Amino acid sequence: MRPDGKLVFSIGASRSGKTQFVMTQVRASRRLLVWDVEGEYAAKHGLTVAEGKAALLAALKAATGPARIAYHPKSLKEFDFFCRCAFNWSRQAQADIVCEELAASTNAVKAGGAWGVLVTRGLKYGTNIYAVVQRAQETDKSVLGNASVINICRPNTRRDAEYIAGVLGLELSDIPDVDLCMLQRHKTRELVKTALRFRGNVPYLVKVAEFDKVFS
Ligand SMILES: Nc1ncnc2c1ncn2[C@@H]1O[C@H](COP(=O)(O)OP(=O)(O)O)[C@@H](O)[C@H]1O
Ligand SMILES: [Mg+2]
Repeated sequence: MRPDGKLVFSIGASRSGKTQFVMTQVRASRRLLVWDVEGEYAAKHGLTVAEGKAALLAALKAATGPARIAYHPKSLKEFDFFCRCAFNWSRQAQADIVCEELAASTNAVKAGGAWGVLVTRGLKYGTNIYAVVQRAQETDKSVLGNASVINICRPNTRRDAEYIAGVLGLELSDIPDVDLCMLQRHKTRELVKTALRFRGNVPYLVKVAEFDKVFS
């Protein structure tokens, strides 16, 4: 039996570092499938691009072993289809699934449809799921509560910072108010403060004692 997968959220304002954090987590993944709405992963990390439903089905069918695939949807309405494909593919062999800009694609508040199946049953098959959202309010509270790791990047507003602090029982002063600083909140309640650095185009995380700036 495969061990349970991880559910990881990366939350924060635009340009705060959400995607770069995910890239640090999936760099070594051998079976990776990304809902790549911005088309960032292929360019920066050499993933194979699949565009359109037929191309995705063909790519996944061929990918019985290692494969790193970025799906460029033609419409956000394809998200349900993508999640169904991701679930089936990750059932065949362990895989890592990234869903960028989740809230734009699904009514995640209800955690329904194929996305709901992916986060409930997928984890049992050992699928690691990385979900990226701009605001914690856009995710289902119980799904958020069950996350293995919540990576909190700079929220857009103080109100967003207050919401995430409230829902996770954090101090407002734990929340970074500067890009590329992030707080990882583990399911064990452990808190780890980190900052993103780059070696060329490759991001990596370093632990920090304090953030340069916090909400107050
Ligand atoms: N190679 C790099 N070197 C330095 N900073 C970088 C590099 N690549 C991206 N960044 C920084 O990362 C930030 C964007 O991070 P990203 O994860 O794409 O944000 P988000 O997904 O939250 O919109 C920007 O502030 C940008 O300056
Ligand atoms: Mg991003």
